[in-house]
Amino acid sequence: MRKSLITLFILFLLVGCQNASGQTNDVIELKLAHNQTLDHPVHLSLTEFGRLVEEKSNGKMKVTLFPNGQLGSEREVIELTQTGAVDFSKVSASALEGFSKDYSIFSLPYVFEDYDTFQKVMNNPKVTETLYQQTRNNGFIGLTYYNAGERNLYTKDREVRNVSDMEGLKVRVQPSQTSVQMIESFGGVPTAMAYGEVYTALQSGVIDAAENNETALVGNNHGEVAKYYMYTGHQIVPDMLIMNAKKFDQLTDEQKSIIKEAAKESTSYHEVVWEKSIKEQTEIAKKEMGVEFVEVDKTSFIQAVEPQHEQFSSHEETADIYQLIQEAIQNE
Ligand code: GCU
Repeated sequence: MRKSLITLFILFLLVGCQNASGQTNDVIELKLAHNQTLDHPVHLSLTEFGRLVEEKSNGKMKVTLFPNGQLGSEREVIELTQTGAVDFSKVSASALEGFSKDYSIFSLPYVFEDYDTFQKVMNNPKVTETLYQQTRNNGFIGLTYYNAGERNLYTKDREVRNVSDMEGLKVRVQPSQTSVQMIESFGGVPTAMAYGEVYTALQSGVIDAAENNETALVGNNHGEVAKYYMYTGHQIVPDMLIMNAKKFDQLTDEQKSIIKEAAKESTSYHEVVWEKSIKEQTEIAKKEMGVEFVEVDKTSFIQAVEPQHEQFSSHEETADIYQLIQEAIQNE
């Protein structure tokens, strides 16, 4: 009885010092959730984001990170961001497809020829502002993106060199209808599941393969069970930093600028740590995990998804974003 009274009193004090915008003693405490490990480059860049926010606000804004998927899968943390239970989350653009159709453009295979093309598109404010603002009605906005490399196929024991080798291969994809369709177009059998379940699914044989950048092999240990990594380069899907829209709107103009600047600067910082990490992790996967890196006949993969491009460019839900991306690619 006494204990519960004391708890109640502490709760009262906590709530009492906190105003509607989560401000405690004039310090705005912000929570950020994501699913990567502590040594993943994305975690390092998000840490830098938090550091910059704190520095630029002279300690008046603080960001606490919840890594390792401790607050749930990407779908779950997007929902937490919508309700405001967390202020920010970092999720793959593919996971956002279920919330806004425009984000599905990133899962359309081979929409970007290479990373330079992707970057050109992401440096176009017309594209980013369209993407970042149009989820307001869903309760969140985009702030920036982080390079998440090219997505490549990796298998437990099948070497794939041509799209015809994909026949019947059970491949895990992100929870994205466009990615499901992609694997079907390649002749494989897609299974959408959360990232945290992939290792066990590979190990137990529920799936034969998955697809991701090189950090999955080392950082998430998938290289222990998957021994072939094929350079299919089928998607370039960025990681997105999103924020609860109401929380953002409650900030002063100065605080908003701090958040935006810190986000932008952390994206530049990320380019450097990303490149370094991919080089290191590829070496570890090769030398310490025995993963074989394989070049494929990319043309056969590109041809297999041509109908998906046609569908995207003509369907009413995706035609506008498809057009916008094409214009950004061609823009000199
Ligand atoms: C990438 C991405 C993650 C995502 C994962 C996945 O690693 O950075 O945000 O969860 O792919 O395949 O689900």
